[in-house]
Amino acid sequence: MRSHDRLRIAIQKSGRLSDPARDLLARAGLQFRESRDRLFCYGESLPIDLLLVRDDDIPGLIAEGVCDLGVVGQNVLEEQAAERLSQGLDAAFKVIKPLGFGRCRLSVAVPNEWDGADLSRLNGKRIATSYPNLLRQWIAEQKLDAEAVLLSGSVEIAPRLGKAEAICDLVSSGATLVANQLKEVAVILQSEAVLAGPAKPFGDERADLAAMLLRRLEGVLSLRASKLVLFQSRRALLPELMKLLPDAELPTVMSLEGRAEEVGVQVLCRSAMTWQRLEDMKRAGASNMLVLPVEQMLA
Ligand code: PRP
Ligand code: ZN
Repeated sequence: MRSHDRLRIAIQKSGRLSDPARDLLARAGLQFRESRDRLFCYGESLPIDLLLVRDDDIPGLIAEGVCDLGVVGQNVLEEQAAERLSQGLDAAFKVIKPLGFGRCRLSVAVPNEWDGADLSRLNGKRIATSYPNLLRQWIAEQKLDAEAVLLSGSVEIAPRLGKAEAICDLVSSGATLVANQLKEVAVILQSEAVLAGPAKPFGDERADLAAMLLRRLEGVLSLRASKLVLFQSRRALLPELMKLLPDAELPTVMSLEGRAEEVGVQVLCRSAMTWQRLEDMKRAGASNMLVLPVEQMLA
């Protein structure tokens, strides 16, 4: 039995989610000593250690209590929850917080030459996937009569190999589908990376550590979207301009030397600025706009 005065987080060893997950933990102030086998990394700044594993193993490791928390795609979590449910087991793990990266969707795709997107064409067909449980649920919901064929990798080439007529796989940019002459006909699940943990609360010191980590992650995530926006405008235009800014706090308004009618404005915006918003601001009379990242914040 391992001691419960340290928290153990599992993340993907290598793949789409591993770098952003490490980056997020680093921003939350976690530093690790790399071990030579690169499976277990000892936490140096806090009693929080890292386990580097295959993403598909993360829900099971949480369920078994081998690790306490994990950064994993919602797609993996939901597939394994569906699998456990079909075996009469409870989920044993849950989403604690969506993390805003690794966005993708689980979709059904068919060869480009299928005309139209009528789902009934899937009747009597085989659909290759690494997500058989989510796919079977979807097939049942859609009242289709299709077969889920389990493949552990390279799902996108299954139609060309004659192993299936359609596929159900993750789509991010869509490049894999295009490269394999496939087109999306249905989205089964929207997904992103999440912080996952056990369904039952920790009844020991780990509860405080997990709460602290969560607070820090929330701070990092809200800072990421926040921007400091600077601009100049005629004072009279300010009320209209403020309406164009996303989740703006109260502005600091300064006078401009030698320009009685004009002001310089500094304002914190809590959600993403876009080029579109900047162009709208310009059209409404703002000039010399600057959008700056926020490094740290303490209200
Ligand atoms: C997914 C999926 C596709 C690819 C799609 O694999 O299996 O191969 O990403 O991305 P695209 O739409 O940008 O081309 P992933 O990297 O998640 O690996 P894994 O399924 O083995 O974990
Ligand atoms: Zn995987």
